[in-house]
Amino acid sequence: MSRRKPSFLTNDLFPREIDIEVCLKTLKIYQKIEGDVNCVVWDASLVLAKYLETMCHQKSDFLSGIKVLELGAGLGVVGLAAATLGAQVTLTDLPEAMTLLRLNINENKAKISSMGGYATAESLVWGEGSSEIYKDEWDMIVLADCVYYEEAIDPLIETLQNLNSSTNKRMVIYLTQELRDSEVQKQLWDKFYTKLTNIFNVIKIPQEEQHANYRSEDIILLKISKKF
Ligand SMILES: C[S@@+](CC[C@H](N)C(=O)[O-])C[C@H]1O[C@@H](n2cnc3c(N)ncnc32)[C@H](O)[C@@H]1O
Repeated sequence: MSRRKPSFLTNDLFPREIDIEVCLKTLKIYQKIEGDVNCVVWDASLVLAKYLETMCHQKSDFLSGIKVLELGAGLGVVGLAAATLGAQVTLTDLPEAMTLLRLNINENKAKISSMGGYATAESLVWGEGSSEIYKDEWDMIVLADCVYYEEAIDPLIETLQNLNSSTNKRMVIYLTQELRDSEVQKQLWDKFYTKLTNIFNVIKIPQEEQHANYRSEDIILLKISKKF
């Protein structure tokens, strides 16, 4: 007897392939034809995934065995790239994003484990402080294109602050953001950036240090760390 796949697997999804050149692996990421912002791959996630790959090219153990947490992972491009490059990654997003995110983790599981990495998904809503995730010690936080609506700014800053204060490690945060043209989006970004720089050390990573084919004037890449 043949087992039918859930209908969204056959009808609504289409895959995107992303090469992780440094280890000759290709991630297969399923996107949804119609859906919310967590159902497509955003360019900022490609810039960050490819920056991590560039760093691993320069320093082969850059991600090996380290504990990485992704916020607002969407379909999981950044976290899955990090796991394929050897990191132990927890990818997080809203509860409704978990089905597709877990599908993408399963799809790429064999590649990830062959590289010594690991990936799992858990829901984490920014600003909701009761999660076990805050009790863990993370080496690195990654997030791509997560600053896009007003109500999320304070909860996102609060989440970064909670994660930062719950670790004794020298945790580093890599963030990419597409800087959109509209006045509303510009003001949102300025507000977030001002709050971020009040709390953390923030360095803008120049274009020439990023992946030659995956960088853009419109996408900012930040390295964020604790203020001492
Ligand atoms: C523009 S998408 C970016 C997705 C992915 N990082 C990428 O670049 O492809 C923003 C993501 O943030 C997630 N998100 C929005 N508000 C959130 C919240 N309050 N808590 C957790 N995740 C949230 C969305 O579900 C979505 O996956």
